[in-house]
Amino acid sequence: MADRIIAVIGATGAQGGGLVRAIMADPGKSFTPRAVTRHADSPKAKALSASGVEVVTADLDDPKTLERAFAGAYGAFCVTNYWEYFSPERELAQAGNMARAAKAAGLQHVIWSTLEDTRKWVPLSDNRMPTLMGKYKVPHFDAKGEADQIFRDLGVPTTFLRASFYWDNLVHFGAGPKKQPDGTLAIAYPMGDKKLSGIAADDIGKCALGIFKRGRELIGRTVGIAGEHLSGAEMAAALTRALGQEVRYNAVTPEQYRAFGFPGADDMGNMFQYYRDFDDYLRGARDTAFARTLNPELQTFDAWLARHAREIPLE
Ligand SMILES: NC(=O)c1ccc[n+]([C@@H]2O[C@H](COP(=O)([O-])OP(=O)(O)OC[C@H]3O[C@@H](n4cnc5c(N)ncnc54)[C@H](OP(=O)(O)O)[C@@H]3O)[C@@H](O)[C@H]2O)c1
Repeated sequence: MADRIIAVIGATGAQGGGLVRAIMADPGKSFTPRAVTRHADSPKAKALSASGVEVVTADLDDPKTLERAFAGAYGAFCVTNYWEYFSPERELAQAGNMARAAKAAGLQHVIWSTLEDTRKWVPLSDNRMPTLMGKYKVPHFDAKGEADQIFRDLGVPTTFLRASFYWDNLVHFGAGPKKQPDGTLAIAYPMGDKKLSGIAADDIGKCALGIFKRGRELIGRTVGIAGEHLSGAEMAAALTRALGQEVRYNAVTPEQYRAFGFPGADDMGNMFQYYRDFDDYLRGARDTAFARTLNPELQTFDAWLARHAREIPLE
């Protein structure tokens, strides 16, 4: 069985890295990971190689290299990194390159790490949020969702995996508590009292392994995963318990959030507004109970905080 190779795009990153670790830790040894990276000499790629993982060099912008990366594999985990270039068009092109390479290699099961095309819920004519980059509402979601059709049109046997807001964003993406002028700590999300679907980034790869292990069952299906759905107030209360100091929730408006000024603030502001305005749909589409059947180790926010609260920068 262990000769069934899964080519893992993003193996040096959060989602793909979690999958490689999950495959390596799988007692049943159902699959063999093949780590795909642009930089085989990076410390993370070298660490993978040192732990016995095959490392293959490829670039999502270069289709020929992807064909090599997928050759002889049973399946592939496909992810893009929008935040490296802030271009939905480039993300769409990279997804298309992966889909065509998967087809050419005759892969039996592909997981495409996608998100909703939010324009199906908020058409460009809907002025509740600004249209960004000419034709997107949530640019880092929309092109991923648009790319789903490429996998379908090519007949690639695909499971469409929709993850949730990584709690790791509190450590790495500036989404953690900030010191207020009066010295207190507060998180600021434009969610009102609605719940945000969240997940430990490491659990995404574990869920992906669960999907591959189901064989053909989830091919053609869209699978949403979350560890827990929490309001800003509930997240602040959990942070207060974990950090041992009070964290408040500041329910800013989407307009205020979009004006925060960091790169992508408008995109993130629209994303939170989408989560807020369609919270019923989004919570239903990210089923924690189902995610737990894929990954029995699925973490709650409290469990994630017990491991990572000390890493959250409190500036
Ligand atoms: N943060 C969240 O809350 C959240 C939630 C849902 C979805 N997402 C989505 O997750 C995606 C990022 O995934 P991640 O967090 O796992 O990324 P990450 O930890 O930032 O790592 C990015 C990975 O992508 C690889 N990569 C990037 N460009 C590549 C290219 N041109 N060719 C080959 N490999 C390339 C990198 O490999 P090398 O550098 O080794 O080549 C690296 O392993 C984004 O598109 C984001 O929208 C994020």
